[in-house]
Amino acid sequence: MAEIIDGNAIAKSLHEELRSELLAMGSADLRKPCVAFVRVGENPASVSYVSKKQKVSAEIGIESRLHVLPESVSQPELNSLIDSLNADDNVDAILVQAPLPPHLSERDTFNRVRPDKDVDGFSAANLGLLCQEDASAFVACTPAGILEIIKRSGVETRGKNAVVIGRSIIVGKPLGLLLMRKGVDATVSICHSRTENLREICARADILIAAVGRPMTVSADMVKEGACVIDVGINRVPCAEKKSGYRLVGDVDFDGVVSKCSKITPVPGGVGPMTVAMLMKNTVAAYKRHVLK
Ligand code: GUN
Repeated sequence: MAEIIDGNAIAKSLHEELRSELLAMGSADLRKPCVAFVRVGENPASVSYVSKKQKVSAEIGIESRLHVLPESVSQPELNSLIDSLNADDNVDAILVQAPLPPHLSERDTFNRVRPDKDVDGFSAANLGLLCQEDASAFVACTPAGILEIIKRSGVETRGKNAVVIGRSIIVGKPLGLLLMRKGVDATVSICHSRTENLREICARADILIAAVGRPMTVSADMVKEGACVIDVGINRVPCAEKKSGYRLVGDVDFDGVVSKCSKITPVPGGVGPMTVAMLMKNTVAAYKRHVLK
């Protein structure tokens, strides 16, 4: 039976570290860190993620602001909000929750955020710095959280086969760069919807990371004996027994895979809380850049 990695516990210890760091920095003449969240529309998952991020911010001692724009907002209107947050010296960090409605450009939106406030790490500037292995890059929170889980769980990466299913800007692409960078040194394969022989490629993985957004994508026959399996999916499936009417499942057939792998992240309670923890870490880093300069 695999070790089930407790993302909540790792995230909690990171929150504690950040809270103590801010307390130690606290002085009457220093303002608190501040993160601005921008949400467009009422996508239920986005509502829930942003409110979780606000709750954790408050627990750590980070102020947060929430800007909710209507689903019909135009790109110039969204840009103008981002411009005003970029110019606000009391805002350290800006996060525009994805996905955006289809009439808006996520790329233009992410690139509009000032790189030193881009705690999501989705701007061309920060993705470029990550590609250059520059330590000053803000690294996207989900990939950064996955790497932290891998490190803290004692999983060897050097020379190992890491297979990522998913090529998004939010997870797959930055995660590939992180896993291959010097010091991590994994041999990386990125798979996607057009990949041939997905099963065979996955079955060679020492570290298998599923970021597809489709339940049951990874079955036991795709997993090498003893592999470490990281499940990034957060899918809502209808469930009559739950008050909410749904339950959360990942991209991995957890029950089928758990007896074959050596370590696995659960959903919920695996990668999700680590994404929030890394956002907090990036926000504190942005704050320090702004107030300690
Ligand atoms: N949607 C899903 N994950 C993320 C994330 O890490 N950041 C933002 N901004 N939107 C997301």
